[in-house]
Amino acid sequence: MLGARETLRILLVSAHEDLRDEVGHALERWTGDYRLYWVSQPGLALSRAEELVPQIILVDDDLVGVSATTVIRELSSRVPAAAILALEDADEVAKASQAVLAGARSFITKPLRPDELATILQQVLRQPRPVSMEMEETAALRGHVVAFCAPKGGTGRTTLAVNTAIGLRMMTKQEVALVDADYAAPAADVVMSLHNQRDISNLLSRASRLDQELVSSVLAKHASGVQVLLAPPPADLAGPISVPHVQQILMLLRRMFSWVLVDLGLPLDEMAFAFLDGADRIILSILPEMVALRNTRLMLDQFYEWGYSRDKVWLVVNRATMKGGISTRDMEDRLHIRVSHRIPDDAALATHSINRGVPVIMNHRRSAMGRSLRKLVQLVIDDLEGAVETKSSRVRRGKRRRAFASD
Ligand SMILES: Nc1ncnc2c1ncn2[C@@H]1O[C@H](COP(=O)(O)OP(=O)(O)OP(=O)(O)O)[C@@H](O)[C@H]1O
Ligand SMILES: [Mg+2]
Repeated sequence: MLGARETLRILLVSAHEDLRDEVGHALERWTGDYRLYWVSQPGLALSRAEELVPQIILVDDDLVGVSATTVIRELSSRVPAAAILALEDADEVAKASQAVLAGARSFITKPLRPDELATILQQVLRQPRPVSMEMEETAALRGHVVAFCAPKGGTGRTTLAVNTAIGLRMMTKQEVALVDADYAAPAADVVMSLHNQRDISNLLSRASRLDQELVSSVLAKHASGVQVLLAPPPADLAGPISVPHVQQILMLLRRMFSWVLVDLGLPLDEMAFAFLDGADRIILSILPEMVALRNTRLMLDQFYEWGYSRDKVWLVVNRATMKGGISTRDMEDRLHIRVSHRIPDDAALATHSINRGVPVIMNHRRSAMGRSLRKLVQLVIDDLEGAVETKSSRVRRGKRRRAFASD
């Protein structure tokens, strides 16, 4: 039930802070990544669960103003993918059977025993899901995700992401999606001349009930056939985009598209890392400048420490032929990483194409920059299409931090 790259999200519904602490303590035995969320008011449990889409919901039997059975019944119908566990007093086991009848998967007696909680979580997570969800999960493995990022702005992330997306569409004829995930400074709409009223904010409020139809309805359709999940104007983004939101949206996009490209902005916060975690390849664009080297070194270290394998991260030098720029050999020596590709410098063409809203790979495919961009696309195809059999081994995540969050 829990994907290899997924963080376990647990929502606790309980009026008692000491029970939250007890659960937090018991979870210290849990060896995987997890995040515990707590909602003290049962009235908020439903909306919180829909927003977070947790895999596990723990419902205390001692709620204020409403019976736990009612809450469990509502949760199980509105958030069917979650496994609900009732927390029952040891001497009230009769209530446990009511909880199970209302939709709980199982129950745990209070006070909690850490070993018991870990065992039950493992059992529940191992239990097969209903067939339709199994099928969804298999299908979810279809698309490749490539994220573009850099330790500073202006290195060509948007240029590379947009041109690679269009190039993949042109060269493979497959379905391609592009996510403008630069929420501080979105640009895909301008660069691709897209005028769409809808963007990711139309998905956030309905995160628990996202489906392909809904996602499809908010995507902007580019003339090349690439479909784009736009970012809202920064001032219009009501709240932060959560990690579960990103995971849900990526999962659906991977199911719908053969290729999902992500143009990531800064800072590389938790949300950005959720995109990076879900990516098969990360293309780190760098300019041939001295300052860029140090920041890129730090970013690479952060990625390796985070558990990303070396072959997951590609270094691409943009504007590589820039006058006075550092040589590729120098960059490789200093960064201890091979440069995967170099894009030549052509400021006039790059600016012209941005101003006209027509990416280089469409109208200037025979220019040196256009040819180099197509070469990058070919490298991506060869690498990911030729590496299907090694897909399961593509990410070896290291020990990840655990987090504890509450309402
Ligand atoms: N190969 C290139 N040669 C010359 N100029 C380029 C090249 N690639 C991109 N540029 C120019 O560099 C600038 C930054 O490119 P781009 O917007 O793609 O980068 P970014 O990392 O997405 O930046 P931002 O921080 O604005 O999101 C743009 O003005 C673009 O025209
Ligand atoms: Mg950009």
